[in-house]
Amino acid sequence: MCGIVGYVGREQAAPILLDGLSRLEYRGYDSAGVAVYHDGQVRVAKSKGRLQVLSDMIQGGRAIPGTIGIGHTRWATHGAPSDTNSHPHVSHSGKIAVVHNGIIENYAQLKSFLQAKGVPFVSETDSEVVAQLVEYFYEGDLLAAVGRVLHRIEGAYALGILCCDQPDQLIAVRKDSPLILGLGEESNFLASDVTAILRHTRDVIYMEDGEVAVLTAQGIQCYNSLLQPITKEVARVDWEVDAAEKGGYEHFMAKEIMEQPEALRRTIFPRIQDGEVYLEDFALTDEEIRDLQKLYIVACGSSYHVGMVGKYHLERLLRKPVEVALASEFRYMEPIVDEHTLVVVISQSGETLDTMAALREAKRLGAKVLAIVNVVGSSIARESDVVLYTWAGPEIAVATTKAYSTQLAVLNLLGLYFARRLGTIETEEYRDILGQMLLLSAQMEEVLAQKSQIQYLASRYFNHESIFFMGRNVDYALGLEGSLKLKEISYIHSEAYAAGELKHGTISLIEDGTLVVAVGTYGALFDKALSNVVEVKSRGADVLALTTASHAQRMEEVANGMMLIPDTHPMLLPSLGVVPLQLFAYYVALHRGCDIDKPRNLAKSVTVE
Ligand code: AGP
Repeated sequence: MCGIVGYVGREQAAPILLDGLSRLEYRGYDSAGVAVYHDGQVRVAKSKGRLQVLSDMIQGGRAIPGTIGIGHTRWATHGAPSDTNSHPHVSHSGKIAVVHNGIIENYAQLKSFLQAKGVPFVSETDSEVVAQLVEYFYEGDLLAAVGRVLHRIEGAYALGILCCDQPDQLIAVRKDSPLILGLGEESNFLASDVTAILRHTRDVIYMEDGEVAVLTAQGIQCYNSLLQPITKEVARVDWEVDAAEKGGYEHFMAKEIMEQPEALRRTIFPRIQDGEVYLEDFALTDEEIRDLQKLYIVACGSSYHVGMVGKYHLERLLRKPVEVALASEFRYMEPIVDEHTLVVVISQSGETLDTMAALREAKRLGAKVLAIVNVVGSSIARESDVVLYTWAGPEIAVATTKAYSTQLAVLNLLGLYFARRLGTIETEEYRDILGQMLLLSAQMEEVLAQKSQIQYLASRYFNHESIFFMGRNVDYALGLEGSLKLKEISYIHSEAYAAGELKHGTISLIEDGTLVVAVGTYGALFDKALSNVVEVKSRGADVLALTTASHAQRMEEVANGMMLIPDTHPMLLPSLGVVPLQLFAYYVALHRGCDIDKPRNLAKSVTVE
């Protein structure tokens, strides 16, 4: 999704902006641009395509001198990707430059209003209206003009604004789209994502919705929505800079897959103490837990798939209804949610707009909201009643891997914590699962050690154009994730089915040579999984099976290819089972020559509806 960087200080701005934008490339974009003030004017350079095109165009930034500027990577929503539609957008006189993330919902009315006043527009974007409107209201005080604009625009926005009449200051605005401020030495920054500025500073201010900030080289002044000065807390980011770099791997995705054992250790180990689940700063009392009548898990994409796995486990553990909903559906479906419901929102980025909207809807309906989030200080984390961080570290690849694994681990811990308090789990089973959880990282290392085998399997199957995943119970939920991983990075059409559903329609698509990935890790339903394999094989399918060591022999007798995981408690099988599926998707995409970390049309964090 779009990325924003802004810099004001003593150094040349353009190279800093380009570097910051390069750290945001992973978010997905189709064009990039910068605007830098120098000598009485704002110079803009922008271009469709990769950031490198822009960088070459301005000689790595040397061609546009100046010590204050804003930069942007655009992911097209309103208007096709093109040089003209790229940001920054400038007002018609060239006085005001703006970068914008989000969507200005009433841009059409505002544009007509301005056009009627004779203001010419050059782009098809919703964002240009902000630059034109700031200029329209500008009477020598940039902050006041921005304040007037904020009363008129509707929608979601993070804005960086530069004006050539006030060339020592940048203005930052945030509403429903992430924006942070970075404090350096005689330099200050704004950015949509902390990774953009981590090389320069770790001291950041998280802006809240409706807040505005004025940045100069000397300092940052924040204001509330009434433009009254406010004092904000400065937070220290403790991510290592190299955590957001490839560290010798060809792709971030490969690095993040391999980081999973370590990420799991960070997520799980501190939360199991003296044979009990320990959840830090857990704000729900035992009485509140007992009072819960229902859990609702709400998320998007892979985070939703974590919820799908969780439903099977949590319902069994807690003997309470657990519903799972896509955030984009939940927000409009009039869900049955009240003060006896706990809504668990799951999000890596903590900025997914649909999940955020679902969270607000849940709160409006009186539910308590618990968030499982990776990015510290993100909007979802800040608006939830209880937050459990996944501690996966920065995840850069668009296709999530370590966030999925750590989300699943946190959800399992939460289930066990609740079950213990509700008395719905036997102590023996509780202790057994906790013990096995502590072994997960080491077992995951064993799975990762088979990566060359999976690479070989990928080399056999990478040229298939349609691949089916099937499984039952948690294996079905796992298949959904395996299928999504494959589609998003390899562009192969793929679908995941609950294996029992096959004969209700889908089996008609199975023909000679169709690849079916049979997920059969769940022991209780293994015999059924085996029958399904036989069923599709008899229709000509080529079957690549994923199962546990103890079932390997029986599966091997029928499948054409095998991916194995060690045995563990049934609740933990998906945590291991997802790894071969991630590796398979990765190597298939590699064989197909795909742009793995930046798949087409996708963004890391989806901050528009
Ligand atoms: C997964 O690989 C995706 N890129 C995507 O489905 C993602 O999980 C989804 O957009 C939700 O993101 P979030 O966890 O940051 O809210």
